Order: sequence, then C-alpha cells, then structure tokens
Amino acid sequence: MKSVKTAILISGGGSNMEALIRATHIPSFPAHIALVMSNRPQAGGLEKARALGVTTDIIDHKTFATREKFERTLHAKLDKHRIELVCTAGFMRLLSPWFVSRWTGRLLNIHPSLLPKFKGLNTHARALKAGESEHGCTVHHVNEQMDGGEIIAQKSVPVRADDTAETLAARVLKQEHLLYPRALKNTAMQLLALTKK
Ligand code: GRF
Repeated sequence: MKSVKTAILISGGGSNMEALIRATHIPSFPAHIALVMSNRPQAGGLEKARALGVTTDIIDHKTFATREKFERTLHAKLDKHRIELVCTAGFMRLLSPWFVSRWTGRLLNIHPSLLPKFKGLNTHARALKAGESEHGCTVHHVNEQMDGGEIIAQKSVPVRADDTAETLAARVLKQEHLLYPRALKNTAMQLLALTKK
C-alpha cells in the first residue's frame, strides 16, 4: 500500500513526534515517518525517535550565518530523503516565505490554542488571563504568517476554575497527541488521492 513519506521537525521533548510515529505504525496508516530532524542537538525527541527506529538528523540553526542558509540546507536534506510531507511538532523556528512556498499544502504544524486565538507563545497562561472557558489545540497548514495557515482540525478542552498554565497545558497536550495523528492521516489520504489522478 502507498504511504506518504513524512518528516517531523522538532526542537524539544517530542511528545507529539512520538504520538505521530506510534500512530504510523498501524499498517493501514497512509503515511510513514522516514526522518526526524531537530534544530537543537540536545532535543530529547532525537533519542526517542531513534529508539522507535526512525532516522534522525540535526540541523543546528546556530551554525548557519543566515536564516536563508539554514532553510536551504533543511530543504536540501528533505529533498535528499525524498520527503513528501513535513510535520512541525514543537519546532521553535519561524519558517520564511521562501521555505513555506516550497511546501505549500505539505507542511503542517500543531499549535496549543484554538486558533485564531492566542497565536505565538505562552498560550495557556494567556488563555487563563483572558478568562476563557475553553481552550485547546489546532493542526493547521503553515503559511507565511505565524500560526496563520488554513485550519485542518481542532479540539477543545474545558478550562477549570483551579487551572494553572501547567494543568491546562497537560490537558491540551493529551488532546494534541490524538489530534495530530488524525490530521496527518487525513492530509496524507488527500495527498495520495491527488497523486493517483
Ligand atoms: C506542544 O504543545 C506544541 O503544540 C507546541 O509545543 C509543544 C511541543 O511539545 N508547539 P512536544 O515537543 O511535542 O512534547
């Protein structure tokens, strides 16, 4: 069965990455994770990926003079592995229009808020401060605007009166681990249907 060759970009612990890799182990899943890349050499997710049998690579942005050079190398590596779809998961680098335009429709991100609310960082603390009664997570296409691309899927969770940013983050993260594999599955199925034509 055909499945979409997918890469995951991370910067940290990689719990979403792990959820994606585990989901793709189901034989009928329409995507497989062929590569995990981190811009941080110490990212905990790298070890997890290796333990799950996935090829890893490091592309340390600090060793590149410009964003453009970093992204050109990133793009070349994805190309070399014949990657068809990219999932960013806790990848803490903004991607330029140059990179994004090369991956239109094939570049997904997960964001811990109900977009378009709370783009950017510290979403849980900001949701609490704003007195929201519900919060959640969003998987979206990446475009040139930060956290601004077309929404693929969302899941909401209740905000409780005694929540801290940490308890709320944990509740949202649990849902991220279910939502991202579902969104990857749907996007991969759409890509497969397109290439059949
Ligand atoms: C997640 O909350 C994700 O939505 C955000 O950063 C966090 C990454 O966590 N962009 P992990 O590395 O997947 O554990």
